[in-house]
Amino acid sequence: MRAIQYHRFGDYDVLDLATVPEPAARDGWAVVRITVAGVSPLDNTARLGKLPDGAVKPFPVIPGASGVGVLVEPGSSGLSVGARVALGNGRYGLAVDGVWAELVAVDPAHLVPIPDAVDDIAAAALTTGSGQLTALLALTDVVGFRAGQTVLAPGVGGAVGQGGVEVARVLGASRAFTTATSSAKAALGREAGFEVIDLSRESLRDGVARLTDGKGVDVVLDGVGGAITGEALGALAVDGSLVSIGYAAGMTSTINVTDLIWKNAHIHGFRFALFTPEQVNAGNSRLLELLAQKEINPIVDRVFPLAEAAEAQRHLIEGGPFGRVLLSV
Ligand SMILES: NC(=O)c1ccc[n+]([C@@H]2O[C@H](COP(=O)([O-])OP(=O)(O)OC[C@H]3O[C@@H](n4cnc5c(N)ncnc54)[C@H](OP(=O)(O)O)[C@@H]3O)[C@@H](O)[C@H]2O)c1
Repeated sequence: MRAIQYHRFGDYDVLDLATVPEPAARDGWAVVRITVAGVSPLDNTARLGKLPDGAVKPFPVIPGASGVGVLVEPGSSGLSVGARVALGNGRYGLAVDGVWAELVAVDPAHLVPIPDAVDDIAAAALTTGSGQLTALLALTDVVGFRAGQTVLAPGVGGAVGQGGVEVARVLGASRAFTTATSSAKAALGREAGFEVIDLSRESLRDGVARLTDGKGVDVVLDGVGGAITGEALGALAVDGSLVSIGYAAGMTSTINVTDLIWKNAHIHGFRFALFTPEQVNAGNSRLLELLAQKEINPIVDRVFPLAEAAEAQRHLIEGGPFGRVLLSV
């Protein structure tokens, strides 16, 4: 079968299209014929060798953390051959080979059936980058979000920014907004229905004050990190919470501790590993239903052919996409 592989950590060009043996179903595992695969920042971090030692399997590695397809071998899943499934869970492309391949062997605990009303591209867009799922778990399980609160999910082009705003609205946020690094990105976001703080025109703190009548924001879903984390802490409401999810803009930040002390603020970390497969599947199933009902609408920036996986990964990291980057397999 065709698959993308790398034999050493490095830049995008270590990704090669190869012909490799088909995976064998073992120990009740299922085999999925992948139709659409996702490209995520985590795939990039893994390939660069920036995850902790032992997080990535021995070489060669087939990347790809999320994707959708059709069951060709159901294993112990209880599903039928031909069932359409999403894979949005587990350590694919890390501890085991991933989905940038025609076929992938998966633990049935990581499969979620896709409703008929949801096509493969939409399901792949939902699971790629896990923005909506991250927001759902962070809001409901980490910060105890209540309807009527306000939410900031910075990064209008990214999975966490877009997914964070969508899910906050579904859960009843009185206001949910995001940020853009340029006026062009802000315009794209507003066209797509997002309320956006244009960071090229005003500071995060001023934008939040404007949108919350000076009260500050109740919850920040922070996938950006870097300077944004410190600024977002300064933009919190009294008793507000910041969930640290990612570091698209950097791993270090300077904070003013009085932003924590005077506001009785809370900072939480977020890791998928803290959630059981059942919690993750329940979240994905709920989100797929919301997608079927058109309550959420994950945006696709571009679909690349599998053979152009390296270019797709570069586009995600350097091309400033607006929405998810996918591979047609
Ligand atoms: N902990 C977890 O389990 C978990 C789950 C999901 C995601 N993540 C991580 O969360 C991060 C975000 O994921 P994603 O898929 O949304 O990433 P992404 O597609 O890389 O998007 C990152 C966003 O960051 C914004 N950004 C970059 N530099 C910025 C800066 N200097 N100032 C302000 N904004 C800046 C960009 O804004 P513009 O659109 O304006 O350019 C972009 O929208 C990644 O690091 C990812 O690995 C972690």
